[in-house]
Amino acid sequence: MSGGTWHRVAGKDEIAPDEPKKVTVGSEEIALFRVDGEIFATHNICTHAYASLADGFQEGGEIECPLHEGRFDVKTGKALCPPVSEGLKIFAVKVEGDDVFVQV
Ligand code: FES
Repeated sequence: MSGGTWHRVAGKDEIAPDEPKKVTVGSEEIALFRVDGEIFATHNICTHAYASLADGFQEGGEIECPLHEGRFDVKTGKALCPPVSEGLKIFAVKVEGDDVFVQV
């Protein structure tokens, strides 16, 4: 997670708890999550098949894939239950004022 460029991807208020938001930086699809007031960013595409995790079901620090209900930890990207076994790429996030930046 070092190197890379910081990109402003959203306003902080656009990301609500348990309502993930999909953003795109170049060719990279990223899902933003708000957990306990903090913002986290993961790759948006499930590691199992082609599904948009931002369309899934977030519960606190976990996101459930809308296609086959695999779950990931949004802070670490770790895969939590079958059928997903491969973790998600995560991105560094910083918040400056109302602006959310992701390092890609
Ligand atoms: S595509 Fe996400 S669990 Fe299958």
